[in-house]
Amino acid sequence: MFRLDGQVAIVTGGARGIGAGVCKVFCEAGATVALWDVLDGTETVAEITANGGNIFYQKVDITSRQSTEEAVNAVMEKHGRIDILINNAGIIRDRSFKKMNEDEWNTVINVNLNGLYIVTKAVLPHMIAANYGRIISASSINAMAGAFGQTNYAATKAATQGFTRSLCKEVGRHGITVNCVAPGFIKSVMTDSMPQEVVDAGIKTIPIGRIGTPEDMGYSYLFLASKEAGFVSGITLHANGGSYPI
Ligand SMILES: NC(=O)c1ccc[n+]([C@@H]2O[C@H](COP(=O)([O-])OP(=O)(O)OC[C@H]3O[C@@H](n4cnc5c(N)ncnc54)[C@H](O)[C@@H]3O)[C@@H](O)[C@H]2O)c1
Repeated sequence: MFRLDGQVAIVTGGARGIGAGVCKVFCEAGATVALWDVLDGTETVAEITANGGNIFYQKVDITSRQSTEEAVNAVMEKHGRIDILINNAGIIRDRSFKKMNEDEWNTVINVNLNGLYIVTKAVLPHMIAANYGRIISASSINAMAGAFGQTNYAATKAATQGFTRSLCKEVGRHGITVNCVAPGFIKSVMTDSMPQEVVDAGIKTIPIGRIGTPEDMGYSYLFLASKEAGFVSGITLHANGGSYPI
């Protein structure tokens, strides 16, 4: 159940955080993983390879059509298939809307939304040709809940859900499912730099009583990426320890 043996997955933003958790879980499930990131992913690859995983790093900027298409072509040349696409890469540029400048607005839209377009556009023809695919994109609890200082980010994460529901209607007949995962409060570079009392206050709002881990997210993605989830499409899986609806 929920094995990915023989399948090839692309995980964008896989060098650290949730993306690295997804890479780890997918490799444990038997997939071959292409880890894409603008950051160096060799350390994550070395760690997962040491545990027996099949994973390789490609330096890819998802806002560049050229960078993305070259990487897709390299995966196809080497492995001949792309079964799973995890659109995980994302950024924040938090500031109250009153103070937010156009650059902060546009940068977040560019990575979180235009990147979603560029990567999905490059991968989709290969899934259609194979008559099989799983596309899963990162939304956020803040797409629904909103958050102070995140008008730009929340707009992209809500848009990701609309993109998902629409694309699922277009490609279902090709055996392709399209879904989102909306993480809640997850351990990350950002939470690691927060004062412990701020983290503790966040945890108090989570019914499960702890912060989420990248591996928790990896298992949520794994379900949607599995063959067994073939009748689940167009949904957002709320992986937040019970914090939503709030
Ligand atoms: N951590 C959380 O609590 C949380 C909550 C809700 C949603 N999310 C979403 O989950 C995803 C992962 O979050 P995270 O906390 O692990 O973030 P993170 O910043 O730790 O990791 C994101 C990765 O994406 C990469 N990236 C950024 N821009 C890129 C680009 N142009 N091309 C390729 N790679 C790029 C970064 O280098 C980084 O390695 C994001 O989409 C985020 O919005 C996270």
